[in-house]
Amino acid sequence: MPKLFIQTLGCAMNSRDSEHMIAQLKEKEGYSTTEDFREADLILINTCSVRERPVHKLFSELGGFNKHKKPSAKIGVCGCTASHLGEEIIKRAPYVNFVLGARNVSRITEVLHKDKAVEVDINYDESEFAFDDFRTSTVKAFINISIGCDKSCTFCIVPKTRGEEISIPADLIVGEARKVVATGAKEIFLLGQNVNNYGRRFSGDVEKINFTGLLRQLSEIGDLERIRFTSPHPFHMDDEFIEEFARNPKICKSMHMPLQSGSTKVLKDMKRGYTKEWFINRVEKLRKEAPDVSISTDIIVAFPGESDEDFAETIDVMKKVKFDQIFSFKYSPRPHTEAEHFTNEVDGEVASDRLAYLQTLNNEIIDALKLPLIGNIYRVYFEELIRDNYVSGRSDNNHVVKVKGSEELLGEFREVKITATGRTILTGEIVA
Ligand code: SAH
Ligand code: F3S
Repeated sequence: MPKLFIQTLGCAMNSRDSEHMIAQLKEKEGYSTTEDFREADLILINTCSVRERPVHKLFSELGGFNKHKKPSAKIGVCGCTASHLGEEIIKRAPYVNFVLGARNVSRITEVLHKDKAVEVDINYDESEFAFDDFRTSTVKAFINISIGCDKSCTFCIVPKTRGEEISIPADLIVGEARKVVATGAKEIFLLGQNVNNYGRRFSGDVEKINFTGLLRQLSEIGDLERIRFTSPHPFHMDDEFIEEFARNPKICKSMHMPLQSGSTKVLKDMKRGYTKEWFINRVEKLRKEAPDVSISTDIIVAFPGESDEDFAETIDVMKKVKFDQIFSFKYSPRPHTEAEHFTNEVDGEVASDRLAYLQTLNNEIIDALKLPLIGNIYRVYFEELIRDNYVSGRSDNNHVVKVKGSEELLGEFREVKITATGRTILTGEIVA
């Protein structure tokens, strides 16, 4: 049996793409997976190109793999960096056997047998591709609902690496959900760059429904208990969507709302399509309809032209909203984006100071939010074994909770009373 080593970087969509490639390689080529690249016959790196640093690291990592791999082992570079660098990867690292873009993962078994193949066509349509099964978790399942992204945020490379947005037909998504529920998953996690823009474009002549309609269809699946999704776009958060989110008991009360900036001027330069006021208005509506909701976000600091006043607007939104979790990044210029050509860069030191300030404030906010949770009882769905005989899972509103226990808890719901808090994980004991 040939062995596959796969390294996955970046977002949840990449994790699912890796699962798809593993499925194809198992099914059609008889591969099994290994954690040790030295014994692998095929080494795949599924890359991310959203920021510059991981792209820089790619070539040194490839060098390391090449030096210590089995002499006969092949190396393939997949994902978003493959999409935007294409042939250049083989020019810079001639021992790489093939390059497979983020929109072409279904072609993995094709490129495997063509030395120096470069498949990075962003017009390739994988939206109706019926993938075989391979899932790293049996208790919760990632399900893609769309491919690509139709927005043109000026900082973002994703539309150039994943191509234009096409929704996957609802019957395929519902079929996939039924299948994973039948094999024991009680939670599904819907994935797309822009989930609440679902239904804007299908490639075939299929039933046209929007995201709210899709959520309603999925929640009719009997044994399915929880639905999560990422990421919705603040621009598309209309009342219908928020009301369905709040009303539907199967939809977990956790919303990722990527703010990016609190300054309406910067948001305009980013081409995000909403203002500071719209964002706050949507948070207020959400909290009114679903008071327990937890809200997470992404923030970019030091986007070109961001003044002290603009940054202060971001801080103002943070203080008003009190996000439950923030993923914060320093702006990183990316090729093939509009902002790459903006000349009003923010000084590097100013950028670092802003990021540090934001993260310190965020820690204070999180500490103040978490402390009062002691004594609360949450219904936790257990997903993972972690160190020291603990099992971790999530509450409906996305608190990560660990309790002492073992694998019998995996895939089970329990009522858990919180006994200690931390910034990223709460500790508790099972009460029922
Ligand atoms: N549509 C996706 C966004 C994918 S990129 C989503 O909503 O999740 C994930 C995050 O990376 C973005 O929300 C943004 O905050 C960050 N990001 C994207 N491009 C970036 C860049 N050029 N510099 C810094 N951060 C960036
Ligand atoms: Fe990127 Fe904006 Fe799409 S952040 S993935 S272009 S919604």
